Amino acid sequence: MDYHLIVVAHRVFVTAFLLHYVWKTFLLVSNKKDTLAAYTAKTRIAEMVVSLCFLLTGFYLVYKSPPLSVIMWTKIAMVFASIPIAIIGFKRGIKPMAIVAVLLIVGAYGLAEMNKAKFKKEDKKAVDTSTVEGGPVAVGKAIYTVKCIACHGENGDLGLSGAKNLKITTLTDDQQKDIILHGKGGMSAFPLPDDQLNGVIAYLKTLKQ
Ligand code: HEC
Repeated sequence: MDYHLIVVAHRVFVTAFLLHYVWKTFLLVSNKKDTLAAYTAKTRIAEMVVSLCFLLTGFYLVYKSPPLSVIMWTKIAMVFASIPIAIIGFKRGIKPMAIVAVLLIVGAYGLAEMNKAKFKKEDKKAVDTSTVEGGPVAVGKAIYTVKCIACHGENGDLGLSGAKNLKITTLTDDQQKDIILHGKGGMSAFPLPDDQLNGVIAYLKTLKQ
């Protein structure tokens, strides 16, 4: 299955789920009980399908992601906490609970965005390899261990976050440099200085043997 397709699908399901619950909470809070009951009845099946797809795509992404940060675990905990709160809140018509459930989901969404921004910044952070001995391959290995291993794995074939298998890549050095410097799909840009970039390229060649 294509990882990026699942990412897009997950976003679509999350957005649909969130809008649906914002609307339901609005109806509950503004005392439109009959409208809420009719809307809930009409959307019961759709809600089940969307929440199931939302959770299944989420599980798949967790399974196929590099080890999750504390931020991401917090996000997941917030989503799971919101489920019983929403169920009880709407069943009993308790407004504060419905609002808390929606806020938890909105907060989880915000955390995911924060996490992305943080990773982007970290990917751009320079690594000091001036003390690394052993030539370009050693420099490349040092960079690879810090910046690339989470998705590509020690041997280049881990494939997390939809990462390509570097053991069997058919790209030329220049094509690889272009992807490393500018990013592609689920891989962010790594603006490495020339010596480190050439070192990584030299190190990737050793993974192929
Ligand atoms: C967040 C996960 C992630 C990290 C970290 C990461 N990559 Fe990637 N890498 C990917 C993904 C995803 C692709 C596939 C991009 C595409 O084609 O859509 C990829 C593709 C590549 C390719 C192209 C391979 C091919 O045959 O198309 C190279 C080369 C590569 N990565 C090298 C690196 C190097 C070197 C680093 C560290 C500086 C690195 N990657 C860090 C996820 C990552």
